[in-house]
Amino acid sequence: MDTIYLHIKKESGKTDQEEEAAIRQAGEIIQSGGLVAFPTETVYGLGGDALNPESSRKIYAAKGRPSDNPLIVHICRFEDIYGIVNGLPEAAVKIARAFWPGPLTMILQKSELVPRETTGGLDTVAVRFPSHPVAQKLIAYSGGYIAAPSANLSGRPSPTSAKYVAEDMDGRIDMIIDDGEVGIGLESTILDLTSDVPRILRPGYITREMLDEVLERVDIDVTIIDPESRQAPKAPGMKYRHYAPKGKLVIAEGTPEQVIRYINTHAEADRQAGEKTGVIATAEVLEQYHADVVKCIGSREDEKTIARNLFSILREFDDDNVTSIYSESFPAHGLGQAIMNRLLKAAGHRIVRL
Ligand code: TXA
Ligand code: MG
Repeated sequence: MDTIYLHIKKESGKTDQEEEAAIRQAGEIIQSGGLVAFPTETVYGLGGDALNPESSRKIYAAKGRPSDNPLIVHICRFEDIYGIVNGLPEAAVKIARAFWPGPLTMILQKSELVPRETTGGLDTVAVRFPSHPVAQKLIAYSGGYIAAPSANLSGRPSPTSAKYVAEDMDGRIDMIIDDGEVGIGLESTILDLTSDVPRILRPGYITREMLDEVLERVDIDVTIIDPESRQAPKAPGMKYRHYAPKGKLVIAEGTPEQVIRYINTHAEADRQAGEKTGVIATAEVLEQYHADVVKCIGSREDEKTIARNLFSILREFDDDNVTSIYSESFPAHGLGQAIMNRLLKAAGHRIVRL
């Protein structure tokens, strides 16, 4: 199939009316059972009609994703949640008031309207109300409910710009809406509201500390903090090795001096052994590394930039054919918890504590 590219960045020169008409056309594609990749504030999504089982099947096929891994349903008006859930707990209303529209997904009991193809066979549904204006318009023109996973091939880092969506999805979907780079760069926080105590299933930009301010109690899925745990994560997608770069990634944790010494020694040994080496470094110590490719992920003072750069750096290492990658480690609280969760997954949990 030929993928249509729709540019709506400022440089495209489109008037507001032209942009509106183009998004309406994208909505028609979704309403007639097609797939459209679109920007959200977190990462690009791969959208289809959430109420059409055939659309969900197409999403799984385009991503090469196991069909037991449920999709998130995106809405563009709070009231629309009542159509797809069976009962709305008080905590869900509080959370929506505090964080919607925004980078937070709630797991709730699903209504009859939502096909099991969309929820990976589960009785629950993931619901998200994104804040990105293009996402909101597209959802409205698509009939109100878009099922959308991240718009990457299964196992690759989530796409933070349309060029990465094109790398994975060109020829596999009907349209890609190009609005440049996203703002956050990590997927939404997932909060399960189907048990007595709300539980974080995936850490994200909305941190545990922020949720603690709104709810009396919040738990966190043990598998996020203890990867050795024998329990299965409650979000099926969290069990897969995700975000994997093609090269072998190792995280080094310790004082800056220890980390620099460890990474330089090991990168040099790998280079001697014929590997192409790479380092994910913070701005403060960037100059002190010696490897074939050293990439700056941002300043330690600015976790938001680190979050935004992580997935694109992992993809760039693939493009550069780097086979051995080392990364610094980050404190796992606040936004750092989401950063370390993604980094550890990318590393297949290879972390050296110095
Ligand atoms: O920021 C985001 O959430 C992005 C943008 C596009 O909205 N979407 C996204 O979707 O990250 P995806 O499919 O890549 O990740 C969805 C995660 C998976 O780990 C999945 O297993 C979990 O949500 N999930 C979805 N429905 C669920 C449910 N009913 N119960 C538990 N986990 C669920
Ligand atoms: Mg994903």
